[in-house]
Amino acid sequence: MPPGLADEAAAALGEDEADAFLARAGLVLPDVAAALERLYGDRAGDLLGRALRTALQAAAERPTALRRLDRRREIDPGWFQSPRVQGYVCYVDRFCGTLRELPGKLDHLEALGTTYLHLMPLLRPREGENDGGYAVADYRAVDPRLGTMADLEAVAATLHGRGMSLCIDLVLNHTAREHRWARGWLAGDPAYAGFYTAFPDRQLPDAYDATIPEVFPDRAPGSFSWVPEALGGAGGWVWTTFWPYQWDLDYTNPEVTLAVLGEITWLANRGVDVFRMDAVPFMWKRLGTTGQNLPEAHVLLQLLHALTRVAAPGVVFKAEAIVAPDDLVQYLGAHERYRPECELAYHNQLMVLLWSSLATGDARLARQALGRMRPIPPATTWCTYVRGHDDIGWAVTDADAAAVGLDGFAHRRFLNDFYSGRFVGSFVARGALFQENEATGDARISGTTASLCGIEDALDRGDDAALEAGLRRLGLLYAVVYGFGGIPLLYSGDELAQRNDAGYLADPALAPDNRWMHRPPLDWAATARAGDPRSLEGRVTALVRRLADARRGQPALAGGTESEVVDAGSDAVLVWRRRHPRGGTFVGLANVSARPQTVDADTVTGFGTFPCVAGSDGALPVEDGRLVVPGLGWAWYAEP
Ligand code: GLC
Ligand code: GLC
Repeated sequence: MPPGLADEAAAALGEDEADAFLARAGLVLPDVAAALERLYGDRAGDLLGRALRTALQAAAERPTALRRLDRRREIDPGWFQSPRVQGYVCYVDRFCGTLRELPGKLDHLEALGTTYLHLMPLLRPREGENDGGYAVADYRAVDPRLGTMADLEAVAATLHGRGMSLCIDLVLNHTAREHRWARGWLAGDPAYAGFYTAFPDRQLPDAYDATIPEVFPDRAPGSFSWVPEALGGAGGWVWTTFWPYQWDLDYTNPEVTLAVLGEITWLANRGVDVFRMDAVPFMWKRLGTTGQNLPEAHVLLQLLHALTRVAAPGVVFKAEAIVAPDDLVQYLGAHERYRPECELAYHNQLMVLLWSSLATGDARLARQALGRMRPIPPATTWCTYVRGHDDIGWAVTDADAAAVGLDGFAHRRFLNDFYSGRFVGSFVARGALFQENEATGDARISGTTASLCGIEDALDRGDDAALEAGLRRLGLLYAVVYGFGGIPLLYSGDELAQRNDAGYLADPALAPDNRWMHRPPLDWAATARAGDPRSLEGRVTALVRRLADARRGQPALAGGTESEVVDAGSDAVLVWRRRHPRGGTFVGLANVSARPQTVDADTVTGFGTFPCVAGSDGALPVEDGRLVVPGLGWAWYAEP
């Protein structure tokens, strides 16, 4: 322990709290020291003291109500793994206008079973284009259009009072070019020296660009942007992985790491429970690599995580790492040995494979890819989701595709064709291509869940049978996501089957980015119709509530246990099984094809002893010892 820290802690926190603080610090000390050493070499000794003092200051400033929450979570460290934890994701303005109006809208969420609210970027962004708030100009202020920091604290307190938790984004790969740090760096202020990276000519940028995939090839090719004011006015190529106004922070500079730690712990003290750590794969760069998922990016996350929890032990991290399956579980700390990193990560494999399965009517690829994923550490869990605010990128590996007789490239292209409605198959998805790259043939998909499921097309054509099928697809997707284990995330508007929204085209700051088509304002008029069980909205809302209720009663859906994907004798039925030490066996199944399929009843119902606890069509009939799953049907069976 750095000399003097124990006395400082006692003075700042009082004997009892200091004792707990020092116990937490002592527990992570070897990891923190090793991480600093790995990243910053011989500067580590001095940095250790400074980092722990940043944590101490935050601990001293932590409000009493949050310390009580911390204590409860130290008693129940798996609090976020409970099946009662169910998420909802929305933009404040698109959901209800402002933060002040939010507490008045919580009944809608409570009725859906929400206990975890992810509010999309709400910190003060730059003016004009800001990538949906992912270009932050000030981490300590709320976007004035949404309210104030005091409003955010009030929202957090209200949520806590209702047994809900608050998740916000922490955009830490980059800041807006208008951020105080960026302005200081540009002006040559020594306090911000080395906060960002700029090169005087194209030599290194070209060398890096040769191996780094492009995120936004259409309007932001490459990873660098020319900034005439950079490098003392001589001009330079600034590192900008995303849009030109999002400047990548340079974490090889430990001052950046300490500064970001200060922002995280400060925000934690406002009442944030979960930080969605944005774009973390990109945080560390090395020549000759893709610039993603480098070991140092993990070490950095481990470091920030450990120090944040020394200050605020109730806070957890969620990794936004939308990467290939082999690179994903490491963000949950599954390295050659377990190293605590993030408690949560997006299960983008499940998301992608569900859409792929619906397009092909075949679950083999999903079974193959999910079946070979490495297990996640028991202290962590997934966030499972049908879709989010971003495009869907087809993270299907060539090896997984080949294992089921598909060509990876051709399959990804097929999925783009299918979901952009170019391929006329069993249903018409009304998505759109995002970032089509003619050079590589890559593209991703935008569109709301309902539109991608064929609901928009069915409504436009007045085709009742197609509408029915579209609803069954939406129900199936959410049934897997709510029953797979991990925190299910409901994307705002999906509870009403909201279709694509063209409204963004009228706003010049949004028009060039078609991801806005699937971020519709919540249709409150439609929520009124949701009371009618025969309406479209009523049916989807009822489905979500049913899933939420059924899930809460299933101990096997708690985190800490893997879902095991099993072959029950049909290529079109995805079957997964969970064996939780405190609950009986749980089996979920989903027929991704439009035709009835039969599966081995023993595998699913445990020799007929498990009751069906939820399903699209009630308990499934048995014929000749096999269960019959209707087209696009799903069911959950659980050992009593
Ligand atoms: C994340 C966000 C995405 C944003 C990017 C840059 O991936 O989800 O919306 O464009 O980071 O911050
Ligand atoms: C982030 C996400 C990626 C997405 C991109 C733009 O990089 O990880 O999936 O395509 O942002 O939305």
